[in-house]
Amino acid sequence: MSSSKGAAVRFEKVQKSYDGENLVVKDLNLDIAPGEFLTMLGPSGSGKTTCLMMLAGFEPATHGEIFLNNHPINNVPPYKRGIGMVFQNYALFPHMSVAENLAFPLQIRKMNRADQEAKVKRALEMVELGAFGNRRPAQLSGGQQQRVAVARALVFDPELVLMDEPLGALDKQLREQMQYEIKHIHENLGVSVVHVTY
Ligand SMILES: Nc1ncnc2c1ncn2[C@@H]1O[C@H](COP(=O)(O)OP(=O)(O)O)[C@@H](O)[C@H]1O
Ligand SMILES: [Mg+2]
Repeated sequence: MSSSKGAAVRFEKVQKSYDGENLVVKDLNLDIAPGEFLTMLGPSGSGKTTCLMMLAGFEPATHGEIFLNNHPINNVPPYKRGIGMVFQNYALFPHMSVAENLAFPLQIRKMNRADQEAKVKRALEMVELGAFGNRRPAQLSGGQQQRVAVARALVFDPELVLMDEPLGALDKQLREQMQYEIKHIHENLGVSVVHVTY
């Protein structure tokens, strides 16, 4: 993952409405520098997840434009944005093993099988789950599932990683450990990180 470097992000006058009436995001202007670690803070319902979903490409912006490395991306599908995301509820595929969950982003990107296996192995080792590749998510603790979600967001060497309250479900000790690991990953990989918390 040393080949990645951080992406630059710009939100320009971005608005979002889900129902065509109420603006959930009013007029967001935001610049993220390459390699930056940005923390988004705000109460529940303030639109943090919505902002990440628009940046990752899972929700369209209603108005305005989002730029990645100076290119407008409003019409770019998620898998072409080079963005890894840790969803608020992890969103692991329950019917797939841990290794299959990690291979999924690589399959979408049409990576060959040998490279897929190497990347999956490395990502699992990075989050200290090397022995858990054959388990299903339901056979893991909450903290282990959370680490799988982090590994899945990093496995394809993204330039930018979005983490939506990734530590919320963890107990204090695990939360501190993961906080440290996320910082470590950020410093080692040079990726840009947007981290949502409250
Ligand atoms: N898919 C959706 N459809 C309609 N409304 C939504 C949807 N997702 C979020 N909202 C609404 O948008 C607002 C912001 O939600 P969200 O972005 O999840 O905030 P946060 O992550 O800060 O808690 C809330 O009022 C929420 O109910
Ligand atoms: Mg949220």
